[in-house]
Amino acid sequence: MEIRDLALDDLDAALDVRSRSFGPLSLADVDQWKAMVTRAVAAGRQLAAYDGGVVVATARINAFGQWWGGRRLPMAGIGGVVVAPEHRGSGVGVALMEAVVARARSLGFMLSALYPATVAPYRRTGYELAGVRRVVDLSTDALRRLPGPDVALRRGGAGDAEEVVRLLAAPVRSRRDSGPFDWEPAEVAVDLEDDEVLTYLGDDGALSYGFAGDRFQVHAIGAASPETLRALWRLVGSGSSVRATTRVALGPTDPLLWMLSDNELSVTSTQWWMLRLLDPAAAVAERGFPVGLSLEVPVSLTDPLDREASGAYVLAVSGGRGVLRRTEVPGGVTLGPRGMAAMFAGTPVATLRATGLAEGGEPSDDALLDAAFAATPFMTDYF
Ligand SMILES: CC(C)(COP(=O)(O)OP(=O)(O)OC[C@H]1O[C@@H](n2cnc3c(N)ncnc32)[C@H](O)[C@@H]1OP(=O)(O)O)[C@@H](O)C(=O)NCCC(=O)NCCS
Repeated sequence: MEIRDLALDDLDAALDVRSRSFGPLSLADVDQWKAMVTRAVAAGRQLAAYDGGVVVATARINAFGQWWGGRRLPMAGIGGVVVAPEHRGSGVGVALMEAVVARARSLGFMLSALYPATVAPYRRTGYELAGVRRVVDLSTDALRRLPGPDVALRRGGAGDAEEVVRLLAAPVRSRRDSGPFDWEPAEVAVDLEDDEVLTYLGDDGALSYGFAGDRFQVHAIGAASPETLRALWRLVGSGSSVRATTRVALGPTDPLLWMLSDNELSVTSTQWWMLRLLDPAAAVAERGFPVGLSLEVPVSLTDPLDREASGAYVLAVSGGRGVLRRTEVPGGVTLGPRGMAAMFAGTPVATLRATGLAEGGEPSDDALLDAAFAATPFMTDYF
């Protein structure tokens, strides 16, 4: 078994493994999938396991920027993890994920996230549950009835990708959200040229949505001003005569929750996503921490896939920023990659102790770590 970059000549073989794992794609989706995988191959983000020169498994690294405490970190979003049915259960999945972690780290990603169909292979490689994606159904007519002044909105076009990314990021940054991620403008550009994705922009907000069976599906929406946000939602609502229901993934503090009257929303599904830190020191230095908090706590990290990052540290937080400083003095709560990922995502240390993901140190430090990493991470997009 050899794990290396997928060769472009093997696109059809990779598609075959994918189809045997997730079911066949429609003809139109096959073209989009091949274009996406080709871009990933060019960027060194598409790995495959070969057995005797034949593709038996693949995994893709999507290049995202994920928001943590209002700051954006390079995040490797892992997707398309598939092992051909006849090769499952013999360690290929774990071996492939170990290679994915190493590759993502060498490409400069500070952390990695994924939606697990099953958690075992990912836990084995240091990922842990970190946040959710909560999908709700709304009455489209409730969106139509949202009050607010008229705001000029225009259709998005091929050249708007960077603007869309910028407009969607602004409210995430100002709420200091943790978990949402940005696509690269090159991927957003694909949507902007897709007739099935309807994109609209205002001066300070953007929306993309589309028809999905008997309802609308909002893919992304965000605006800096309440007026533009309401106008974008009303634009979706204007279609209430053709689609009574609108489906959207909302974060726990999405403004829409405070704008709707009651009984106009129901949760349809909640899906966990998992996180792994690829460079804990860089991720801590880059993310946002609570403003007004000042503390120093010892922690010890161990990572079988990253011996260099293992060791004793002091976490120091002040002025909304943090640093993991190396120390020669061993001590503090000891965390493996799964414990560190879950703590980074705001899981209380007491929960980690209860599940064996944290041990040692002074229990009195637990509250300081909880205060430092406090977050309710969520994603709104799927990959
Ligand atoms: C999930 C998948 C990638 C795992 O690959 P694999 O080569 O069979 O995995 P491994 O042999 O390396 O096993 C790793 C661990 O996952 C567990 N596992 C594998 N498939 C599982 C499943 N369907 N349900 C529960 N656990 C599973 C194994 O038991 C093993 O656990 P252990 O470490 O406790 O022994 C593969 O089964 C697959 O392609 N499934 C269909 C597509 C899919 O679900 N992809 C994942 C999308 S997120």
